Amino acid sequence: MPHTTVETVGAAGARPDPRWGDLEHLRRTSPMTDAVLDEVRGRHIRCGNHWLIDFASCNYLGFDYDPDVIAAIEPAVRRWGTHPSWSRLLGSPRIYPEIEERLTELLEAPDTLLLPTATLIHASVIPILADGGDVFVEATAHRTVYDGCAAARGQGATLHRFQGGDPGQLDAMLRTVPSRAPRLVCLDGVNSMSGNIPDVRELAAVCRRSGATLYIDDTHGFGVIGERRPDELCPYGARGNSVVRHAGESYDDIVLVGGFSKAYSSLLAFLALPTSLKSLLKVAAAPYLYSGPSPTASLATTLAGLEVNDRRGDAIRADIHRKTATVLDHVHGLGLDTPNADGLPIVEIMLDDPADLDAVALSLWGSGIYVTLAAYPLVPRDRVGFRIQITALNSEDDIATLCEALTRLSKQFALRRRED
Ligand SMILES: Cc1ncc(COP(=O)(O)O)c(C=O)c1O
Repeated sequence: MPHTTVETVGAAGARPDPRWGDLEHLRRTSPMTDAVLDEVRGRHIRCGNHWLIDFASCNYLGFDYDPDVIAAIEPAVRRWGTHPSWSRLLGSPRIYPEIEERLTELLEAPDTLLLPTATLIHASVIPILADGGDVFVEATAHRTVYDGCAAARGQGATLHRFQGGDPGQLDAMLRTVPSRAPRLVCLDGVNSMSGNIPDVRELAAVCRRSGATLYIDDTHGFGVIGERRPDELCPYGARGNSVVRHAGESYDDIVLVGGFSKAYSSLLAFLALPTSLKSLLKVAAAPYLYSGPSPTASLATTLAGLEVNDRRGDAIRADIHRKTATVLDHVHGLGLDTPNADGLPIVEIMLDDPADLDAVALSLWGSGIYVTLAAYPLVPRDRVGFRIQITALNSEDDIATLCEALTRLSKQFALRRRED
C-alpha cells in the first residue's frame, strides 16, 4: 500500500481541528488520496504495481503530452534559463507580454495580467477590490475564492453569502448595503464540482444595477467553453475563451480570473481587467511585487498552448464533448444523479451514505479507475462522493472501462439516484 499510518497532529503541537477528521481518515486509509505515482503514460498512471486510468486529471485539452507544446520548452529554457527569478515588478522576460497580448486578443478583454496561480490572485486581488466594503461570495465558490474573501474580511470588509442559482436573492442583498462602499460579488465560472455554468448575463445585470463588480473564477471553464457561433463544433462554443465570452457578455464591471493550470497544463494564471486596474495591481498586489514567477517551461507551454488552441482547440473540444456525452448517457442510464446539467467534462457522483466513501474508493481503485474523491469538508456532507473528469487523452477504451466500473459500483453501493 502506498500509505503508512501517521499521527494526526496540528501545527506546532496545536490540537487538530475536528472538521478535518473525515479527510484525514481518508488520507490515511485510501490509496486514492495523497498518492505517490511511480509512472505516468498519458492518462494511464502506475502506483506501485497497480495501473489505473486517470479520470482525476484537469489537463482537459491534453496539452501535457502534446508534441508541439512539449517541443516549445527546450528552446525557451535555452534562451531564458529555467526560471526568471525576478518578481514581475522587477522585470519580465518578453514572453510575458507576448502571452498577455495573445490572451487579451483571445478573450476579447480590455487587458490581461499574468500571475503564477489563481490561488495567489484571489488572496491578493479580492481584498484590494473589496477595499473594506461588502463582499458577496457564492455559496459553492471554490475554497481559494473563499480564502480571498476571508482575507478581505480581515482587512475590514463585510462578508455575505448568496446562492448563485438565485440572482433575485443577490439583488435583494445588494440593496440592503450602503451604496457608498465598494461591493464585490465573487463566484466560480464553470463550477469546480458540479461542472455547471452560472447565469453570467443575469448576475452581471444584477451587479451593474447596484454598482457592484462581478469577480468570476473560471479556472475550469477557460480552454473548455467559449464564444457561441453558428459554426461551432459543439455546445461548449468556440475558441475556449471562457465564460464571459460564452455568455456573450462584455467585460464592463467584470473581472475574470482564469488559470492555465487546468486546460493548458501550465503553472500560470491571469486576470482579464481594465488597464487602470492592471496598473494598480502592479504596485498593490503582493504576487506581482514579491512572488517568484512561473517557471520558463510553463511560460513556453502556455504560449505554445495558445497556438495549438488556435489551430486545433475546437476539434479537441468537440472530442471531449463527445466522450463526456457517452459518460453522462451511461450515468443517466444507470438512473444516477449528477448535478452536471451543462454537459461539461466534470461529472460528480454522490453517495447516499457518506460513510461508504472509503469502500467506494477501494472498489474504483480495484477496477483501475482513478478519480477525485470528494470528502467532507471539501464538500458538504450531502455532496460526499467522487468527481470524474474527462480529458482529450482519455481513449474510447478508457471511457468504456469507466462505464463498466460505474455499472458494477452502482450494484455494490447506494449511489445517489435521480428523482424523476
Ligand atoms: C475553481 C478553482 N479556482 C482556483 C483553483 C486553484 O488554481 P491555481 O492552481 O491556479 O491556484 C482551482 C484548483 O483546484 C479551482 O478549481
